[in-house]
Amino acid sequence: MIIAVDGPAASGKGTLTRRLAKHFDLAVLDTGLLYRAVGLGVLRRGGDPADADAASEVARALNPADLHDPELRSEAAGGAASQVAAHPGVRAALLDFQRNFANFPPGSKEGAILDGRDIGTVICPDADVKLFLTASAEVRAERRVKELRERGSEAIYARILRDIEDRDARDASRAVAPLEPAKDALVIDTSDMDADQVFDTALAHINKSQN
Ligand code: DC
Repeated sequence: MIIAVDGPAASGKGTLTRRLAKHFDLAVLDTGLLYRAVGLGVLRRGGDPADADAASEVARALNPADLHDPELRSEAAGGAASQVAAHPGVRAALLDFQRNFANFPPGSKEGAILDGRDIGTVICPDADVKLFLTASAEVRAERRVKELRERGSEAIYARILRDIEDRDARDASRAVAPLEPAKDALVIDTSDMDADQVFDTALAHINKSQN
């Protein structure tokens, strides 16, 4: 079984993905980490994430071990990720890794669940189940602030909201693989839902579509 979970930043993808992975015993790939690793790699080389050649070079040299760096969760890495994600060369360099993960899940799992922006549209267009999570920018900013503060980082709501809006605009307007629901995706607006309600909604849909 392959499950695709797409949606904007802080829409609840990560939480839902981890819960579904546990429920169905699936291998998990948070594909945002790949773009974050490329963005962070460019920044660490003193490069500019807007430079397509520099970013594509880092993407081609990416090592799965790079995905465990705690710095990847920082807002700086997220901002750089959304810039490098707009370069076609970067997306092309990361494509095979993601498809291989989906088709040959590690750890002899029965299947894979991938979360990102273009899993249902580009990476796994034949996924068995496609979910697209969304929520208002304000709700997502509140969630991100809470998450950052719980991790001990300082977070200013107005700045986080602006970053989320900038990131949404970049993700949705890029020419390659823009953020949009696949035609056959179930769209779940999580603005007024808690994690249990989102999980129950997704599970009911999956069980129905597998019968
Ligand atoms: O989900 P995230 O915040 O970790 O993603 C970081 C950035 O990476 C996001 O702004 C868009 C980009 N991204 C993408 O373009 N395609 C994906 N499949 C996953 C992430």
